[in-house]
Amino acid sequence: MSRTRVLGFESSCDETGVALIEVDGDAPPRLLAQALHSQIAMHQAYGGVVPELASRDHVRRVLPLTREVLSQSGLSLADVDLVAYTQGPGLAGALLVGAGVAVSLAAALDVPALPVHHLEGHLLSPFLSADAPEFPFVALLVSGGHTQLMRVEDVGRYEILGETIDDAAGEAFDKSAKLLGLPYPGGPHLARLAEFGNPEAYALPRPLLHSGKPDFSFAGLKTAVLTQVKKVGDSPCEQTRADLAASTQAAIVEVLVKKSLLALKDTGLKRLVVAGGVGANAKLREQLNAACAKRGVRVHYPELSLCTDNGAMIAMAAALRVQRGLARPRRDGGFEVRPRWDLAEAGQA
Ligand code: KG4
Ligand code: ZN
Repeated sequence: MSRTRVLGFESSCDETGVALIEVDGDAPPRLLAQALHSQIAMHQAYGGVVPELASRDHVRRVLPLTREVLSQSGLSLADVDLVAYTQGPGLAGALLVGAGVAVSLAAALDVPALPVHHLEGHLLSPFLSADAPEFPFVALLVSGGHTQLMRVEDVGRYEILGETIDDAAGEAFDKSAKLLGLPYPGGPHLARLAEFGNPEAYALPRPLLHSGKPDFSFAGLKTAVLTQVKKVGDSPCEQTRADLAASTQAAIVEVLVKKSLLALKDTGLKRLVVAGGVGANAKLREQLNAACAKRGVRVHYPELSLCTDNGAMIAMAAALRVQRGLARPRRDGGFEVRPRWDLAEAGQA
């Protein structure tokens, strides 16, 4: 296979990401440049993502970020061989911005356009780190919208072992954080507050912990946090808030660790990949590392900055598909977005 340069676009939620990756033969794909704009500050005033504002901001950011990526890499649009974009899942309007720009650009450059599944991007993001995993592995995908354990045989070969039946882990972090009066997105704020809290101060539920299956449920946790928040009254002291944050984090992390170990045991695999925004959580990393070290399991994480949404993971997923002959790019200028889209369905597409 000859050298292919992939320009990737991510715009599924509140981050606009653009990146350029080069893939040459069997060598690991190389990230040439990337640029990112987070809309967090803009949405913070509303306590969550406002879809219409997200779409408009993607429109404003996507071309300047593309210019930045090209200038960082010292290359021009003429050097791009393939344009990849997030097709879903995500916010429809936000997805349409990235997809529309990507497909138009591809048509103007007379190169193919390749739709990518957002979660495949997260899943394969550890391939952007120096210590890339080898297949097969168990993946723990923990983002704002998804919590899944998967057996990953190779690129495009994903078997879902278990997933959440209600809220995602990131949602549990965010909703609990909101109840504690923390800004959006709550996960990192709650983790910071938890640093000086006692994780055993409040006995919060660990739903489905003993179900014997790698499934999750987090909806009950936020109800339990709400009950505790009501109990401690309107103006709890800082230590009480920290104790509540630490207890919430401990409940989420314990479930994620226990279910990951179960999936590893069931599959007999000795490699775990953790991806998605919650994968940035230091407590989760600490406890997974300790538990996996005991069992001779290697754990791989994406670089901290690549845990949350970014363009590099989308370009990487496309590059790995190209390398394996699994990419089915389009040249007809047509496209559709898929706001709801199961990763298992993305399969060998
Ligand atoms: O993967 P991501 O950027 O977006 C989705 O595809 O959903 O994940 C965002 C989620 C949010 O729920 C955010 O609160 C959470 O990841 N998150 C964290 C941390 N950093 C991000 N949760 C806990 N601890 C963190 N350090
Ligand atoms: Zn994501």
